[in-house]
Amino acid sequence: MHHPPAEIVTPRLVLRRSRPSDTAARFAFGRDPEVGRYMDWAVLTDIGQLDGAAERNAAKWNSGEEYAWLITLPDTDQPIGNISCRIDGHSADFGYLLSTDHWGHGYATEAAQAVFDWLAGLPEIVRIWATCDTDNAASIRILEKLAMTREATLRRWAIRPNLAPGVPRDAHMYVWIRED
Ligand SMILES: CC(C)(COP(=O)(O)OP(=O)(O)OC[C@H]1O[C@@H](n2cnc3c(N)ncnc32)[C@H](O)[C@@H]1OP(=O)(O)O)[C@@H](O)C(=O)NCCC(=O)NCCS
Repeated sequence: MHHPPAEIVTPRLVLRRSRPSDTAARFAFGRDPEVGRYMDWAVLTDIGQLDGAAERNAAKWNSGEEYAWLITLPDTDQPIGNISCRIDGHSADFGYLLSTDHWGHGYATEAAQAVFDWLAGLPEIVRIWATCDTDNAASIRILEKLAMTREATLRRWAIRPNLAPGVPRDAHMYVWIRED
């Protein structure tokens, strides 16, 4: 069992676990088609879909299935996105999203770097990976800024229901490998 930090403080952000009171903020970006464009889940249509979300996040955290943090600005404590990772033995993957009105400030890179650094600090993790749609230029850039390398392009890998329902699309596989 891992012991992820409940809170990760970066120069401009606080990554923290979700609470039921975050529901409205989570719905605001979870319903946004621009945010959902390259996601593999359909955007939210009803705030009720988030009923119990914080509790579900807590159950996954406690079982070790997934560790998810909301990305918040320290002065307001307002969630502006989320980031999560999953550990499977020697490997781990992560994913992130940010509300559109906070794009373009380097926040996603800062949050991703922090979670990446935590994962890379676990001695048993020798492979950290992330996939992204081949058209998702901003995410590709983030993964490259983390000094991850493109290992492969996975053909017809994932369905992006908000972009092309039912049509599997190509994705890049980015990795960091512990070489020692
Ligand atoms: C991906 C996402 C988190 C990026 O947010 P962001 O605020 O733009 O991220 P950052 O500012 O940290 O970095 C983005 C980088 O990509 C670059 N970029 C952004 N849009 C780009 C585009 N259309 N083409 C090329 N580069 C782009 C930025 O210039 C920046 O690089 P730089 O620091 O070298 O200038 C945001 O677009 C998002 O939430 N998208 C929806 C969810 C999503 O796709 N998540 C990733 C799933 S794999």
